[in-house]
Amino acid sequence: MQAKVKSRRSFLVQSASVGLGAVVYPKALKARSSVERLQVACIGVNGMGWTDLSSVGSHPKVQFVGFCDIDSSRFAQAEEKFPGVAHFADYREMLAELGDKVDAVIVSTPDHMHAPAAMMAMHMGKHIYCQKPLAHTVWESRQMSILAQRRNLTTQMGNQIHSAAEYRLGVKLIHQGVIGKIREVHSWVGVQGRQYNNRINRPEAGVAPKNVQWDLWLGAAPERPFAPDVYHPFKWRDWQDFGSGALGDFGCHLLDPVFGALELTAPTSVVASHDGTNNEVWPGPETVTYTFPGTQRTSGSSIQVVWRDGGLMPPRELAQMPDTMELPKAGSLFLGEGGVMVLPHVGMPMLFRDKQSMKDVAIPKVQAGNHWHDWVDAVMEGKKTTDGFDFAGPISETVQLGNVAARFPGQTLNWDASKLRISGVESANRLLTKTYRTGFEIKEVV
Ligand SMILES: NC(=O)c1ccc[n+]([C@@H]2O[C@H](COP(=O)([O-])OP(=O)(O)OC[C@H]3O[C@@H](n4cnc5c(N)ncnc54)[C@H](O)[C@@H]3O)[C@@H](O)[C@H]2O)c1
Repeated sequence: MQAKVKSRRSFLVQSASVGLGAVVYPKALKARSSVERLQVACIGVNGMGWTDLSSVGSHPKVQFVGFCDIDSSRFAQAEEKFPGVAHFADYREMLAELGDKVDAVIVSTPDHMHAPAAMMAMHMGKHIYCQKPLAHTVWESRQMSILAQRRNLTTQMGNQIHSAAEYRLGVKLIHQGVIGKIREVHSWVGVQGRQYNNRINRPEAGVAPKNVQWDLWLGAAPERPFAPDVYHPFKWRDWQDFGSGALGDFGCHLLDPVFGALELTAPTSVVASHDGTNNEVWPGPETVTYTFPGTQRTSGSSIQVVWRDGGLMPPRELAQMPDTMELPKAGSLFLGEGGVMVLPHVGMPMLFRDKQSMKDVAIPKVQAGNHWHDWVDAVMEGKKTTDGFDFAGPISETVQLGNVAARFPGQTLNWDASKLRISGVESANRLLTKTYRTGFEIKEVV
């Protein structure tokens, strides 16, 4: 079959005739165990999209039925490895045209387009593998979890280290109580929110190259002109309209074992501090302090989880490590009543007490999973994954709530997760969601 690229124009003509709002949604996989092949479509096929596509595609039961990318120059790798799959520039066109040929969808676009694409696919009954952070706002993250649950879909967030033996072991050790109940957690990463462009204001307008459909890249985000080498590819991360800062980029990785180990739900308050930002880019080095309700894994009725990025580190002495050792460049520190666990990102957990390694602890055997194949298997068997949107949604909500707090440095925001409300700060509540450009709105689940 010849690969084909559909134009935006042909999509508009087509969707006007079928009425996009009136698409008849196909049912999710029926009698999944009898399905021989899982038919998968991919949205964003290069960068992390290539990792996702090639990792899912190495599962023997996967058959790709559609590749979508707004940049025609970025199909080459996918085409070489999986020739003959239909190419599209617009995910709305791809989903509408392929309809029930698609069982499951991988979403690996920049953050601002995760929810518009994934929500459309989930409304159509598709199972989803979606990159981290799950979504660009708190509201979107909640919507993703609700819809996945309502449609009984098999989902997985793309923080693949969730399935690594190192993180699984860290979670297991806390559950086994090797350092007792946990008093406090610190997580940190070296990168900062504003680091891929050396700028805090918008660049001069440029002209998008022919291979880039800039309007589709912008998608739900407010219009702005293309500029070379500051947004697409990869550098969109710095900008509030598209990315999620260092906390959004790495929080869903590092806080994943923290949520898993402590069985956290949602914070009750959050406060951020940093050296200032504007409304365009994410801040430089920042500290974000969350307070969560206590759980069966914590020593108190509440617990603080402190996030740092941009080179800020927790005080080294908290780790109770021997003087010859240093904290890893990224990781988490679990302070327990009976010792400390240092969980590097990514490395084997280390246990310390009184400047000594806790050599007496029996380390259980833990098997690594294949994050991508586990999702495919779960879809085909009609099961859930361990990192479905029920688990990953609250992590994504938490990092995006931290990004709201970053816009109000020094101010403690009290959070009511059940009502999706920050008490008494209306300007902060407005940042829990955003306005969508026409054509890319999200159909709300109420
Ligand atoms: N899990 C991880 O370890 C990991 C690592 C890197 C990136 N990521 C995540 O993966 C996502 C993509 O990041 P990246 O670094 O690959 O970005 P990127 O800009 O390098 O690549 C994104 C790809 O999606 C395409 N694209 C952009 N908008 C699109 C749209 N609306 N429809 C279809 N295709 C579109 C781009 O052309 C490109 O091929 C982000 O959410 C990021 O946070 C995760």
